[in-house]
Amino acid sequence: MEDSPLQVLHFPTTPYPDQRPGTGGLRRKVFVFKSKINYLHNFVQSVFSSIDLRDRQGSTVVVGGDGRYFNTTAIQVIVQMAAANGVGRLVIGQNGFMSTPAASCVIKKFKAIGGILLTASHNPGGPDGDFGIKFNTANGGPAPEDVTEKIFQISRSIEEYAICPELRVDLATIGRQSFDLENKFKPFTVEIVDPVESYANMLRNVFDFAALKELLSGENHIRIRLDAMHGVVGPYVKKILCEELGSPANSAINCIPQEDFGGQCPDPNLTYATDLIESMKSGRYDFGAAFDADGDRNMILGKHGFFINPSDSVAVIAANVFCIPYFQHMGVRGFARTMPTSGALDNVAKATKIQLYETPSGWKFFGKLMDAGRLSLCGEESFGTGADHIREKDGLWAVLTWLSILANKKQSVEQVMIHHWKTYGRNYYTRYDYEHVDIDTAVEMMLDLEVIITEKAFTGQKFTIGDKTYEVEKADNFEYSDPIDGSITKNQGLRIIFKGGSRIIFRLSGTTLSATIHLYVDSYEKDVNNLFLDPQVKLAELVNIALKLSQLCERTGRNTPTVVT
Ligand code: G1P
Ligand code: ZN
Repeated sequence: MEDSPLQVLHFPTTPYPDQRPGTGGLRRKVFVFKSKINYLHNFVQSVFSSIDLRDRQGSTVVVGGDGRYFNTTAIQVIVQMAAANGVGRLVIGQNGFMSTPAASCVIKKFKAIGGILLTASHNPGGPDGDFGIKFNTANGGPAPEDVTEKIFQISRSIEEYAICPELRVDLATIGRQSFDLENKFKPFTVEIVDPVESYANMLRNVFDFAALKELLSGENHIRIRLDAMHGVVGPYVKKILCEELGSPANSAINCIPQEDFGGQCPDPNLTYATDLIESMKSGRYDFGAAFDADGDRNMILGKHGFFINPSDSVAVIAANVFCIPYFQHMGVRGFARTMPTSGALDNVAKATKIQLYETPSGWKFFGKLMDAGRLSLCGEESFGTGADHIREKDGLWAVLTWLSILANKKQSVEQVMIHHWKTYGRNYYTRYDYEHVDIDTAVEMMLDLEVIITEKAFTGQKFTIGDKTYEVEKADNFEYSDPIDGSITKNQGLRIIFKGGSRIIFRLSGTTLSATIHLYVDSYEKDVNNLFLDPQVKLAELVNIALKLSQLCERTGRNTPTVVT
């Protein structure tokens, strides 16, 4: 006997005022999603309602997450609501897992109208941790501001949501499942896919896998160590680097995804990627890398833990871009970096006469330039590197890119970096994060600092520390005018630019759940005798100026940052 069609029900709900998606979607503590009635339902309904019914009906939507606690619970709700909202097909990663770069790839592959990504990126997970939900559009990238704003506006006045409460989907079995719904002509289908395969297939077309295999498992192979930090990228590392490129099993650590990321913050930086840093110090590995929970961030290390600053990383890739077959075929249309990222990339752009774009933080601005055919390679200081093969930053892509450079140059990570500095000069760079500061204090500090630096007399002002004088050339609150659609994005960080190019930047985080102040310092050095200083020593004067001007320590009661990069 045939099952009777599943009921589509509409339930009343009341809006929440705080569902405006930030830089990385809607991120909240797990308990907010779990304990506030319909908190998830309201947001998911707002996402679906933001899509025109004609576009939504019969369409394909991709769903997947970074495997954190609450991932599968949320996916079951999204499936029930997608069916009730007229979506024709959901493409879901097996067990609900999908890295962010893989989601970007799968959205394009299945010609989806978008994707719902369950991730709070590098934020902690587990029942006491964070959860996040983010909407990507048909280009595979994060939804632009007009879309997120529309979602937010709908969420503020939402009155009901639609759902098929009896619909249950098996997330474990690859293949198609069909469901008959009442009042629907066509069945609603769910396709459980292996996103690792789609993603690996894409990378096979970007890189020379034979050359990489030779580097990792040939006669003179190098030894690598990759740390998935218990995030969702573990199976991708295993499949691509170990199984396919022949790296031994001990090259990949923390590769089994865990709901709480082993209790650690899944953020690939010098503070949190402790396992990797420890094992690199032993000198047994020539190349190391770590990823965040959803696999879009990367940190690159050389032997003995030689650290590659992410701002340098994108510059090195730019300078060696034709070591990668993808760029040999596609050419290079433009480079881009976010405003707080160091000017290292600018030096390569200048030398190669390739257009450089400076955007606000967050990947969505890059996506627009890529869609318009203006941008090929880009990066952020926050451990994000990527290209126009997809519309998200891509951790594993960055690793294979670096390995391609090593294979091509036959040099170590350190040698590649030193050669780069000798050729282009070095942008000494550091970022101080002051996490969990009082939000009002942080906002007030920024407002007061803006007043100081935008006074007319501030330009030309000189700061003398020891025998060094820094003269302000320009200072402002960064605002971006999009070259494609002319839209203006304001209030993107306070910049103080000195003669000679050194910069001090203050920015408040848009993704953390409690207030975080970022202080970024960038200083260019081209004298070959001064290329190997400790960045903290080299930048101490500028840091001092920044702290004095902002009164950060006095105001926040913090004498030291929580994370230094
Ligand atoms: C941080 C980074 C930013 C990145 C974003 C999402 O945002 O600084 O570069 O795009 O995470 O990964 P923030 O918390 O600083 O707003
Ligand atoms: Zn991430």
